[in-house]
Amino acid sequence: MKKFLIIGNPVDHSLSPTLHNYWFNKYKIEANYILYGIDETKIKAVVDKIRNKEIKGINVTIPYKQKVIPFLDKLVNDAKETSSVNTIYLNEKNEVIGENTDVYGLQAGYLKEIVDKKKNKKVLILGAGGVSPSVIVSLLKSDILDISLANRTYEKSLFLKKKFSNLKILKWDEIEKNVKDFEIIVNTTSLGLKNGEDFDLIFKKFKENLIYIDLIYNPLETKMIKFFKLNQIKTYNGLDMLIYQGQKSFYLWNKINPEIDEKLINLLEKKIK
Ligand code: ATR
Repeated sequence: MKKFLIIGNPVDHSLSPTLHNYWFNKYKIEANYILYGIDETKIKAVVDKIRNKEIKGINVTIPYKQKVIPFLDKLVNDAKETSSVNTIYLNEKNEVIGENTDVYGLQAGYLKEIVDKKKNKKVLILGAGGVSPSVIVSLLKSDILDISLANRTYEKSLFLKKKFSNLKILKWDEIEKNVKDFEIIVNTTSLGLKNGEDFDLIFKKFKENLIYIDLIYNPLETKMIKFFKLNQIKTYNGLDMLIYQGQKSFYLWNKINPEIDEKLINLLEKKIK
């Protein structure tokens, strides 16, 4: 029986076990994927279980995507570019590898679909948390280069600016008056999460071809998504990213590219409701 887990704190909300166990079942792989909420002091011990082959794969979520890095042997590809790791595995040379499948999740989930309409698009990212570097890299890889970012804590945006020098920084209280300039807005903050705080922004003017992407999937329709839908704006929720990042993790671990079928989507949506 191969073992997989997701580490984070908290992880109870994660749909990754549902996603991966569905695919294990579908492809008749003898494996089990579980939630593993840990505090920071336990990260090393868990990663060592990859090294000694007790565990086959780990997903990493908030707040450990950066904190896990010192315990890995090597970062590859998008993990190197973002300094953010969400997938861990052991390679043929017995090295513990950190990879990032969030970038692929963003590209496959949203950017691929808006690809031909995207030329010279201006993007606004809300938030400078754990997933923001992945959003920036996914946009750059899709040739969307005009990227602005606003975060409640200004210093955290400056930190990202050091890594991505072409990033334009907006003040958090300048969002409302600047929103009209953007063709794509991506919410990476936790605002809008079920039982959490929400935006108190009022958007009076915005482009009619605006695309609003909310990385939150619980609820499937945040207040912002509802608002933009009412205004005939194209919106996406976070479920697409969740599924596609999981698809790539599954491939890295099992060398099978799992199908995203309707039964899976229904299963995930049912879990959220
Ligand atoms: P972190 O990076 O702090 O570990 P995260 O969940 O990856 O956690 O990021 C949370 C994001 O939501 C951050 O951009 C955070 O803004 P701050 O950097 O100012 O904390 C943002 N966020 C959370 N609550 C918020 C609120 N009430 N208003 C505005 N932004 C908020």
